[in-house]
Amino acid sequence: MKGIIKKVFCALMVAAVGISAAGCGEASTMERIEKSGKLVVGTSADYAPYEYHTMIEGKDTIIGIDISIVNEIAKDLGVQLEIVDTGFDGLLAALNSDKVDIVIAGMNPDEKRKKAVDFSKIYYEAKQGVMVRAEDKDKIKTIADLSGKNVGVQLGTTQEKIAQDQMTASKLVSLGKIPDLVMELKNNKIDALVVELPVANGYIKNNNDLALSEINVEEDSGGSAIAVKKGNEDFVALLNKSLDRLIEEGSIDKFVQEANEKNVTQ
Ligand code: ARG
Repeated sequence: MKGIIKKVFCALMVAAVGISAAGCGEASTMERIEKSGKLVVGTSADYAPYEYHTMIEGKDTIIGIDISIVNEIAKDLGVQLEIVDTGFDGLLAALNSDKVDIVIAGMNPDEKRKKAVDFSKIYYEAKQGVMVRAEDKDKIKTIADLSGKNVGVQLGTTQEKIAQDQMTASKLVSLGKIPDLVMELKNNKIDALVVELPVANGYIKNNNDLALSEINVEEDSGGSAIAVKKGNEDFVALLNKSLDRLIEEGSIDKFVQEANEKNVTQ
C-alpha cells in the first residue's frame, strides 16, 4: 500500500482494532531515538534515592539510581541522554503522546499500567513502609492505629492504591510531590506517609524527627521497571539487554549505594 491509501487504512486500523501505530508507518521509539540521537527520559525527580535534584558544582542536577541506569542505557544505544522532569501522575500520558521515549521513575508495572504501556524487566525491588514523626513511633504501630488519622500518599502511585485498600479508616491526603508530603508530616498536617522503604530510609537518615513505623504493609507490586509505549518489543528487548548487563555486573547495587550516600534530602 502506498501514500494516502495506506494512511487512511492505517488510521482506520489503529482506531478500529487498536493495532500499534508503530507498525503502521508512525516512527517507532527506536527510529525516533536514532533520528534525534538522544534518549528522552521522563521521570518525576522528587523521589530520592531513585531520582532527585541536588546541587553539583553550583548547578541543579538530577541524580539517583534510575538516572545512573538510563545513563548506561543511553551509552549502550550510543545516544545522548535528556531528562524531562514532570509530575509522576502525568508520566504515562507523556509517554503515550511521544513527549518522552521511556519512563523511569521507580514505577511498579502493575496490571492497570500494563494495559496502557509495556514494561522492561524488573531492575530493582523494594518493600513499602510507613513513615511517621519520631515522637509517634510508639503510638502508631498498626494500621488500626492510623484510624481517623491523616495518611499521605503520592498522587497516582501504588502507595495511593495501598492506602485506599488497606487504610480504609484513615483520611487520605494525595499530593503530587514527596517533599511536600514530608513537609506536611513534619508540620503535623498528616500523621503518616506511605512510601517505598528506600525513600523512607533516606529521609529518616537525614531527619531525626522522622522514623519508620513498625506497620507492615502488604503488597505485591513486584519492583520497578522501565515503561515504553506499546508496540516497541524490539526496543524493550534492547533495554532488557542493558538491564541484564547492569544486574550481572552488580552495577545496580552500586548505584543504589551511591544514591543513598549522596542522598541528603532534608
Ligand atoms: N513505586 C510507586 C509507583 O509505581 C511510586 C513511584 C513514585 N515515583 C516517583 N518518581 N515519584 O506508583
